[in-house]
Amino acid sequence: MDKAMPAIRPEALPEIDAREFIKVVQSRRSVRRFTDEPVPDEIVDQCLDLAMLAPNSCNLQPWEFYWIKTDSVKEKIVEACLGQNAARTSQQLIAVVARTGTWRKHCEQQLTEWPDEKIPKIIDTFYKRVAPFQYALGPFGVLGYAKKAFYGVIGLTRPVPRGPYSAAEMREWAVKSTALASENLMLAFRAFGYDSCPMEGFDAVRARKILKLPKDAEIVMFVGVGKRAENGIYNSRLRFSREQFIKHV
Ligand SMILES: Cc1cc2nc3c(=O)[nH]c(=O)nc-3n(C[C@H](O)[C@H](O)[C@H](O)COP(=O)(O)O)c2cc1C
Repeated sequence: MDKAMPAIRPEALPEIDAREFIKVVQSRRSVRRFTDEPVPDEIVDQCLDLAMLAPNSCNLQPWEFYWIKTDSVKEKIVEACLGQNAARTSQQLIAVVARTGTWRKHCEQQLTEWPDEKIPKIIDTFYKRVAPFQYALGPFGVLGYAKKAFYGVIGLTRPVPRGPYSAAEMREWAVKSTALASENLMLAFRAFGYDSCPMEGFDAVRARKILKLPKDAEIVMFVGVGKRAENGIYNSRLRFSREQFIKHV
């Protein structure tokens, strides 16, 4: 993390002004047109660092961020983003990508990069045995089918894990955590006074090719970044009533 923003140890529980967070959340809008003002690379670096602090499943960090820095690549990506203004006028453009194939390496990394001197037994067992069992699908997905059948029977009498059992469920698994990182990223830009627009309106086949993504990668969204132009927000904010969404059970 940049020297200007020393990393805060979460255990230190710093005093927090909730009003600042509320300002960040409430002032974030999807901005579709940005001004010509550049967004410094150092800001992007800090925002990416904050994105990677997002909570994520089993701490397996199934994300990647393709920061588009080459003009010719950006040109092609803008086209793949269907020419959207939010991509075209962005001063920085990032593809937030979910990976379903990095979990095994990341399990190993948990143990080789464990931050404390001693790896607790439960952690060691989890990343050596539990997680590999949980996420491995086996050749042609047979292990996934077997686990689904096995847990289907055991689950008749007690709670059991219900997936991921298939490639589609693994994709969902990776996308969930990566979407949280995307939100961290956008809020971080807002906190630094910049704006963003998430985009899923793109030609995934073309975008994957341009970015030369590996097979197990899925672009969760592009995030265009910049300073909001006067005509950058297309509509007033609309959210339906909280009663519609919040269920007390
Ligand atoms: C996953 C996702 C994909 C989106 N894709 C696009 C997009 O391709 N183009 C666009 O202009 N806005 C896109 N948006 C922005 C939404 O339209 C926007 O968040 C929504 O209308 C609410 O407005 P607000 O973000 O200003 O609160 C996307 C948002 C999300 C979360």
